[in-house]
Formats: sequence, C-alpha cells, structure tokens
Amino acid sequence: MRVLLGVTGGVAAYKAAIVLRRLKEDGHTVRVVPTAASLQFVGRATWEALSGLPATSDTFDNVPAVEHVRLGQAADAVLVAPATADFLAQLAHGEARDLLGNALLATRAPVIVAPAMHTEMWEKPSTRANVATLRARGITVIEPAVGRLTGPDSGPGRLPEPDDIVAAFYAAVDGGPFPAGETPARWGDLAGLRIVISAGGTREPLDAVRFLGNRSTGTQGLALAEAARERGADVTVVAANVTLPVSEGVARVDVETSAELSAAVKEAAASSDVVIMAAAVADFRAREVAGTKIKKDGSGTLTLELVETEDVLRALVAQAVPGRTVVGFAAETGDDAGTALEHAQAKAWRKRADLLVFNPVGGGRGFGDVPNEVLLLDRTGAVLGGASGTKLAVAHAVLDSVVSVRH
Ligand code: CTP
Repeated sequence: MRVLLGVTGGVAAYKAAIVLRRLKEDGHTVRVVPTAASLQFVGRATWEALSGLPATSDTFDNVPAVEHVRLGQAADAVLVAPATADFLAQLAHGEARDLLGNALLATRAPVIVAPAMHTEMWEKPSTRANVATLRARGITVIEPAVGRLTGPDSGPGRLPEPDDIVAAFYAAVDGGPFPAGETPARWGDLAGLRIVISAGGTREPLDAVRFLGNRSTGTQGLALAEAARERGADVTVVAANVTLPVSEGVARVDVETSAELSAAVKEAAASSDVVIMAAAVADFRAREVAGTKIKKDGSGTLTLELVETEDVLRALVAQAVPGRTVVGFAAETGDDAGTALEHAQAKAWRKRADLLVFNPVGGGRGFGDVPNEVLLLDRTGAVLGGASGTKLAVAHAVLDSVVSVRH
C-alpha cells in the first residue's frame, strides 16, 4: 500500500517517526509530506532517511512531476499525524496552502487524521465544528488521548501513542482502497523477498533500422512489480522496450534483445528468491544482422534465416537453485491441435516452472492496459486457481500463488 504521511507542526511530530517505522516494517511504501512548521520540530533528513523517499513540503518543489496532484492521486491512504487545530481548519475548508493541502484536495483515498493540541484548542467551538465537518465527510478523526501536554498542563489533546495510531489507521483503511477480499494481513507478506520480473517484449535486430518484435507493452509485468512492492518485496524489473514508468521504489534495468534480457535476468536472479518471466521473449533472431539497411533486390521476396534464441525460463528452471521460485507466463491461442488451455498445460509440463500463468490471447485479449484473465498451473499442468480483472488484481492473484507454492 502507498501511504502518504502528512506531518504538521507540533511537538508530537517525533511520534510520527515511529508510526512511519511501523508502516515500513509492515511492507508499505510511505511518502512523508511535512508542513514547513513541522520542520521546526523534526527535520527533513529524518523523514527522508526513514522513508527512503524525498520529503518535500512546498507546492513548487519538483514542479515537473506535478507532485501537488500526483502525490494525492497515487496514495492508497493518507494519514496525518500529528494534525494541528490549524490544519483541521484548513482541511475542513478545502484549503491548499502547501503541498500537503494540495495532496489532500487531490486524493480519493481514505484520510485519517490524528489531532494533537492543547485542551482549550481541542474544545474550542470552531475546532469542534471542524472535526464534525470532517467526520461528516467520511474522514476518520482519531480521538486524542488524555494526558500530559507540552507544558505543565494535562487533559484531552495529547497525540495517541504510535501503536494506537497505526491500529486506528488499519481499522479505518481495511476494506477501503483494497480489492475485495484483501485484508491487512496480506500487506507485507512478501517483506524480505527479492523478486525479479521481466516485462515487455524483446526486439531482435534484422538490419540497421529494422527489428523483429511483438505487441507486449509490459503492463502486466509492471503491475506485478507494483503489487510485489506494495506487499513488501524488493523488486527489480528487467524491462524490454517498455515505455511506461515503473512504480516508486522498484529498480529497473532496460534491455532490448533477448540476449540482453537473458544476461540481465540471470544476473539479478543470482541474488533473488523469485523470478517471474512475464516478458514476451523472441523465440528467434536473425542469424546475420546487416550493418546497413537491407535493400529490395528486385526478386519480389526476401529470405531471412532465423535461429532460435536461448529459452531463459528453461535455463532458470534447469539451474534448480534451492529456495528459488521460478514463474513462467504462457499466452496461448487454441487451434486444431488443441484448446488454449491444453497448449498451456503441455507447456507447463515441458517448461517445469514452479508456476505457469496462462492467459488466453487473440481477438484483442491480453495486450495493453485492458482487463486480463489468467489460470495458474503447477508444473504438472494442474489448475491451481484463476483470476480475472485489472492487471493489478491479476498480479495480486499471481503473487498469492507464489506465496502458496513457496510453502
Ligand atoms: N521465454 C523465455 N525465453 C524465450 C522464450 C520464452 O524465457 N526465449 C519465457 C517467457 O518469458 C514465458 C514463457 O517462456 O514466461 C513462455 O513463453 P512462450 O513464448 O509462450 O514460450 P515458447 O517457449 O515460445 O513456447 P512455444 O513457442 O512452444 O509456444
């Protein structure tokens, strides 16, 4: 899950560092947006070091990335802790004075705020009205704790302890931004695993300007990377001619040909627990690659001699590294020799990967950013399960099967 953690100006800002730690330990990606005032209490370096991501405050920081909109759009949940009385007033009135205010205006994700202030401020009619407005709009306002405040005073208004904030946060987001059936227990289930995912389609050069390629865009591979990252894995994508960006926190190695893909995947696989071959790898390449552009010779035909490329998936399976799970993909069409499923089952048996993700293609199915449907086969071709929906939903189902075959 991608969590946007807003920190506003109060002495309790230090507790947000522990909240951030807990969320990271659970495998979430956390982007901190501190207000300028909060930096008087806890500095930017703390947020960047603990989150591993930039912690910008101003709407005009990193303008080319249009962060003031993108941060809110990209978040699966927003948590603001501590939230000052002034911040609650801004939020209740839809003000966007800084990056955090903009992000909150631009998000559709659930918003949870943990107020912290002196008792007089918490009990002030204006604050009560703002809290009531926020709650009426579906924002979760965590009740402050009662206890010692910044000065000698004590009463309601103290920021709850980090564990209580995290618990309230999980309670509020459960069933919110996640696909049906997902529970917090699944988030972070891939923490500590190193996963390599090949994505896209290779291009094999024919001459100085032409290549043999395929229609793969890499969206399913990138969705797998996003899902695996959200669930806490350390992810590397080997991207073959992919123009789309990878999610934040995912490492990327760009390649063009099947030989480059093979070298990059094998290198990354050497220190990985899971390898997912989602790329469409060319089965053939030209025996000779012309250094210049091939010209028409007037005969009306052109004969190219093609030779087989290395089967990367088969090579990975043959290595049989203990503890490493290898996943293949099979995009199949039915024909006179058998149905698409029968072809996929034969491939599962032939390739012997731990898991084969079969998706029927043809007739416009399967390519690009369209809903996908898959069946998950074990190495004997037995159907373990199936999934359909967005490529992200399919990605989660594939990762669920990875988790189950590793047990
Ligand atoms: N694959 C690979 N190296 C290749 C070809 C394919 O690693 N040179 C991987 C793909 O990434 C995918 C799986 O093998 O995970 C199946 O790809 P597919 O093209 O369907 O398999 P082929 O071996 O080409 O099977 P066939 O031509 O018999 O259909």
